[in-house]
Amino acid sequence: EVPRVGPATGSVSVSVAPIRGTSGPVGWLIVARDVSSVRRLEALRRDFVANVSHELRTPMASIRAMAETLKDGALDDPSVADRFLGTIITEAERLTRISEDLLTLSDAESRPPERAEFSLTQLAELTIRRLEPQAQQSGITLTIQAPDDIRVWANRDQMEQVILNLVDNAVKYTPSGGTVTVSVTTENSNAVLTVTDTGIGILQEHLPRIFERFYRVDKARSRQSGGTGLGLSIVKNIVEAHGGRVEAQSEYNRGSVFRIEIPISPNRI
Ligand SMILES: Nc1ncnc2c1ncn2[C@@H]1O[C@H](COP(=O)(O)OP(=O)(O)OP(=O)(O)O)[C@@H](O)[C@H]1O
Ligand SMILES: [Mg+2]
Repeated sequence: EVPRVGPATGSVSVSVAPIRGTSGPVGWLIVARDVSSVRRLEALRRDFVANVSHELRTPMASIRAMAETLKDGALDDPSVADRFLGTIITEAERLTRISEDLLTLSDAESRPPERAEFSLTQLAELTIRRLEPQAQQSGITLTIQAPDDIRVWANRDQMEQVILNLVDNAVKYTPSGGTVTVSVTTENSNAVLTVTDTGIGILQEHLPRIFERFYRVDKARSRQSGGTGLGLSIVKNIVEAHGGRVEAQSEYNRGSVFRIEIPISPNRI
């Protein structure tokens, strides 16, 4: 295998075989195959497996350390014991969330979504109502702008997950006193849902990476809030499986806009 030169690097797999005539070799058969995309996918898969094991190992290590300390006598100190048990529960919950998120991801990836017609506007309203208490608790005004009833042909559960993940982020990454606005509109033959917040924003250098699995701008802060870094990759997976696309714009310290677009009625196959 040799490296490919040119504007985009990659690898080319070359095989050479002699062509034999009746009285010895008469030539060579050379096959060159561009294997760049295969290699790229392999590297992605390797990274993913490495990331998953790392993400699982961290809470496991912490559960184990706490349990060992308890066993070694900390059980006798009620205040320490209580704190450690609390952390053990939190970390166990985190493990559960990671495995659930991974399942959602592989589900969205493995088969085309089962679709039905429903009102995206109504779904957005219902989902927002569910997140209202969380927003209120954080001192955030959560509103929806959806003047028309927009119906789509999509997987309702998955679209609900998309809205949940986006609004959950907007609320989580917006300080008290801020606002989060969800809007549902149409553009050409697409339904467009945007989630706009007045939160902490994302530096331009991080923006291209936030849809990657496990990518978090501020690992420590996001861990504290229980984040796994899978939310946006789930959003991207689902939206793309619906033939749509997702886009993020942000200004550091000012806020972010996440915009998803899905065809209202793709070819009903
Ligand atoms: N609205 C937002 N404002 C600022 N930063 C954001 C926003 N949404 C996402 N981010 C950044 O992008 C990162 C990835 O988001 P993602 O939703 O994938 O993971 P998470 O929120 O950390 O964890 P979870 O898996 O629980 O959603 C976040 O850690 C955060 O740094
Ligand atoms: Mg999130």
